Amino acid sequence: MTESTIKGPGDPGFSRRDFLRGSGAVAAATALQTHAAAANQEGQAAGPAIVRGETTITLQVNGESKKVTVEPRTTLLEVLRTQLDLTGAKPISHDGSSGGSTVMIDGKPMSASTLLAVALVGKKIQTVESLGGPKPDAVVKAFVEHDALQCGFCTPGFVMAVRAFLDKHPQATEAEIRGGLNGNICRCGTYANIIQAAIAVVKGGK
Ligand code: FES
Repeated sequence: MTESTIKGPGDPGFSRRDFLRGSGAVAAATALQTHAAAANQEGQAAGPAIVRGETTITLQVNGESKKVTVEPRTTLLEVLRTQLDLTGAKPISHDGSSGGSTVMIDGKPMSASTLLAVALVGKKIQTVESLGGPKPDAVVKAFVEHDALQCGFCTPGFVMAVRAFLDKHPQATEAEIRGGLNGNICRCGTYANIIQAAIAVVKGGK
């Protein structure tokens, strides 16, 4: 794709995948601006805009406050998997093009591999682990009931993408669901069952 053909929000056909491609650059730009605020929250003196080395920040993850130590370059995906032992989000693609690391940030599906942790202080971070437990979310149950996985590597990202999309579009049609999930890729090709699982959630009203 050439520069002249790159689409932006509002352009016909602009998709969530287009957005995810661009979000990494945006995160990098905002991280430097937000670092000073993060330092203030932790009671540290606000430093210069460009910071090297580690700093401690507090993130709101699945309703809990979590202190983590990060460098300015540390991604949310690295924090989740290596410091918080939340390994649902997967490092399939570092540019977010697979949707494997999809989490919700303030209710919006975003790729954790393209987000810098220091830019997320004060944001509500929700991972796939929040949809499990003794009373799993309707999307999780539907994936099981419709056999919507093979190797399962893409599944957490799809579950979060379906949950986020149906939260916004609870009466979505099959065509709308297909469009809403076009930022996620399944190498095993279980798309048909994933779509059926999402439709079942719509029909179940959950
Ligand atoms: S179930 Fe294997 S990549 Fe989707």
